[in-house]
Amino acid sequence: MQVRIVHDAPGSVRAAALVVPVFAGAALEGAAKEIDTQLQGAIAEVLKGEISGKFGEVSLVHAHDKSFKRVLLIGLGDAKRFEPYMLARFAGTAVRYLGRRNVRDIALVLPPQVKGIETDAASLLIEGAVTGSFDASVYQKSPDKRSGADTLTLIAGDNDEQALQAGVSRGEVLGDAVNFARTLAITPANDMTPTHLAEAAQQAAKDAGLEVDILDEDRCRSEGMGSFLSVAQGSSQPPKFIVLKYNGNPGSKELLALVGKGITFDSGGVSLKPPERMEEMKYDMSGAAGVIAAMRAIGTLKPKINVVGIAPATENMPGGRATKPGDIFTAMNGKTIEVINTDAEGRLILADALCYANKLGATRIVDAATLTGACVIALGHTASAAVSNNDGFVQEFLSAAKPTGERYWQMPLYDEYGDLMKSDIADLKNTGGRPAGTLTASAFLKAFVGDTPWVHLDIAGTAYLDSESGWQAKGPTGTPVRAFVAFAEQISRNGSSNGESSKNVMATGTKVSS
Ligand code: BES
Ligand code: MN
Ligand code: ZN
Repeated sequence: MQVRIVHDAPGSVRAAALVVPVFAGAALEGAAKEIDTQLQGAIAEVLKGEISGKFGEVSLVHAHDKSFKRVLLIGLGDAKRFEPYMLARFAGTAVRYLGRRNVRDIALVLPPQVKGIETDAASLLIEGAVTGSFDASVYQKSPDKRSGADTLTLIAGDNDEQALQAGVSRGEVLGDAVNFARTLAITPANDMTPTHLAEAAQQAAKDAGLEVDILDEDRCRSEGMGSFLSVAQGSSQPPKFIVLKYNGNPGSKELLALVGKGITFDSGGVSLKPPERMEEMKYDMSGAAGVIAAMRAIGTLKPKINVVGIAPATENMPGGRATKPGDIFTAMNGKTIEVINTDAEGRLILADALCYANKLGATRIVDAATLTGACVIALGHTASAAVSNNDGFVQEFLSAAKPTGERYWQMPLYDEYGDLMKSDIADLKNTGGRPAGTLTASAFLKAFVGDTPWVHLDIAGTAYLDSESGWQAKGPTGTPVRAFVAFAEQISRNGSSNGESSKNVMATGTKVSS
């Protein structure tokens, strides 16, 4: 997709379609009004009843005698409830609706809210257009209905062009990263083995100038990763423990660790899952895909921060050497774990990954995992759970994530949840019964993070969707790539509380309150 920024009046832009945002219950103004006048009131006519401007509504108006051949109206909802992330969905809706009708040269009219936030707005628009181009057609011989645009024109109006341009560049990097994570996630488990995921990480490292280290089974054993390897032992695919490093602030000792669950297929192991929808368990490496893709974006965007990405990757299979319920293993920090249910494997691989993050010197940890079905019951497909051992730190994460449009909702981590994870014969057991399954899983993870401020994100309900929306294909969503990248950028600007970079920034008086 080629992006250009023009200063032409909207009515004289050449394009196969002009995309015009409309608001619910508001009079047409600015560019929308100008186009309406050129079309002798055709837009106002559509808004009389065909659509009302509700968020996500679309209506196509033909205008073959104009330099733009069509106008696509897209509802942005009530102007008073406008939020910048809606721009991504606006652009995504445009390239999906038009691309699938083979209209691929499109120009976007920018809503008035862009003024003053040009960089963020352009980044969201381009991210939305790039991610709106994602189709799950990789394995189809001749896919029809291709979303996306070949040329995307932003009609700048009186907005700051340089600021828009900066946003375009970021939006391209971020959108590509989101689609990269989605491609890794949607690839079926026979192709997306731990080995293949490690190769993808190596390629990402090359693309973005990251350090990469892939620990094989022997090295994992010598590191004492008994918990991670207990999951891998039931599979004939060798496990890979993936580490990517970005050093954007060499003078600082602060290190943010991003950790992602990389189960390339979760059969449940000996505690086998029922067959219904088991094929969805190829997505059980979405956290790892998010880490690898976010690291690629961070390495490309170069914020001033040190970040390590950690993605333990293995299958969870019921092979002849698989874990049997009741088996006990020792994690990297010496804690012993009784495996009650081999289907609670995500926490077993994350246990060692969290220990390893600390070993590498992490001063902040965020992990993302398709960890519990209970999270889908609690929050549905609308929000991910955020669980933390540090209230200040989780607030920082939530404030960075909010403008991205990815939704995270904090849930509590009371000590009582930890009590449910105590084993009679080992330090911990890996399941705590049905109540509060997301939080007992979190309490288990907490036993491996030590004192490091940490946020756990349960993305079981948000990593993939089984229905499409106007702006997004069905299948993998790319969550948590947007939030991970935004968080790294926020720390590079503001620092993190108690962190060294935070003190530096405050000394120069530029800390922005969050
Ligand atoms: N990968 C699953 C969680 C999951 C379920 C993700 C549905 C996405 C959609 C995880 O490994 C799992 O099986 N969790 C169990 C834990 C239980 C055995 C304590 C679950 O949630 O049922
Ligand atoms: Mn499982
Ligand atoms: Zn799993």
